[in-house]
Amino acid sequence: MSPSWRSSSGPEYESSPHREEGACGTCENPVLEGVPDHRDRLLTDEEEASGDVMLICVSGALADRLVLEL
Ligand code: FES
Repeated sequence: MSPSWRSSSGPEYESSPHREEGACGTCENPVLEGVPDHRDRLLTDEEEASGDVMLICVSGALADRLVLEL
């Protein structure tokens, strides 16, 4: 069985060979609050600096609280 992940209130997503590499953009999500720790290989420097979106398969948070629009 392939690995999967789920948000606290959203649907469960099956993992694929391309997930969790931070390179496809499938998991891009708007950031509503907080500071993302970008660990992907896709966003531009400008997108990372804006903090408006993040690729949630590989990235994390630099603050105690991070609110996403899922
Ligand atoms: S699933 Fe591909 S970048 Fe996150």
